Amino acid sequence: MDTHFIDFSQSILQAIHTPEWDARGIQVLVKRDDLLHPEVSGNKWRKLQYNIQQAIHGKNEGIFTFGGAYSNHLLATAFATQAMGLKSIGFVRGDELNKDSNHTLRRCAELGMELQFLSREMYNLHDDKQFIDELKLENPGFYAVPEGGGNYYGIVGCQAIWKELPSDVDHVFVAQGTTATSCGILLGMPETCQLHVVPVLKGFDAKATMESKLHWFLFDSELASELVENVHVHGDFHFGGYGNYSQQLLQFIQSTYKNHQLPLDPIYTAKAFFAMQETLQSPAFDHSKVIFIHTGGLQGCKSIELKENLILFSN
Ligand SMILES: Cc1ncc(COP(=O)(O)O)c(C=O)c1O
Repeated sequence: MDTHFIDFSQSILQAIHTPEWDARGIQVLVKRDDLLHPEVSGNKWRKLQYNIQQAIHGKNEGIFTFGGAYSNHLLATAFATQAMGLKSIGFVRGDELNKDSNHTLRRCAELGMELQFLSREMYNLHDDKQFIDELKLENPGFYAVPEGGGNYYGIVGCQAIWKELPSDVDHVFVAQGTTATSCGILLGMPETCQLHVVPVLKGFDAKATMESKLHWFLFDSELASELVENVHVHGDFHFGGYGNYSQQLLQFIQSTYKNHQLPLDPIYTAKAFFAMQETLQSPAFDHSKVIFIHTGGLQGCKSIELKENLILFSN
């Protein structure tokens, strides 16, 4: 499979220093997966890679998948399928939308993705087997990828993250949506390291979701619950839930960029970085090596900047 448009060596480890972390011997490194590609950024290619491979092996002509109005996953799928010579259909949440509703949808359409807009009631069936089977019948030759790429192949792709990290890491922090990325990292990681997840959804049961995904992945319920037992969930940093953010969070994004030249998005990575900063205040983290996984999401910032009438990334 010719995946020329992604070069994993672009995902560098960026050291972040603050006087406090330096004084306490805390070494923070950001795994810059956001630098992998401007439109197939962060965890997106990791979750799509083996799904696309499966679609090609199965001689499918394209992929259909699901996403919201500003979905990073839809845009990444539109770019990656086009680059790999496949067609794509994006089922979008919200039948009041159209391809000109925002930058993300316009760009998906430009990249050749056929957009179909579903009512919220219908969109909520996106994980329902019967609904997917019907869509497969209506779209023969199209391989189905779930919302966010959060399936078996998505987890397999995210397992590789750990292989790109130094072996003496003590803590890994990552934002969480479907949990595929965190499950992949957890599966690859040694027992000496601790995983910290920051769900961006309000009232989300991170451990139960991870456990059921891992159970189904490993066919071993005991191992799944053992693995999840040691995961640290930072559940109070969703800022009102998925898609919500506050002025405080936007200011945090601006100051993080100003102080560290690290761009964060308000939907996923800023919430996780904020949670990490708060969590590291505990003396338990003194003299430890911490990795923050930058999962991307920056494409959606264009729409937020326009809406809020501000510039998020400038010195
Ligand atoms: C930018 C970004 N970060 C983090 C996540 C969460 O990853 P996951 O759904 O694998 O938990 C997503 C969603 O896929 C995302 O778009």
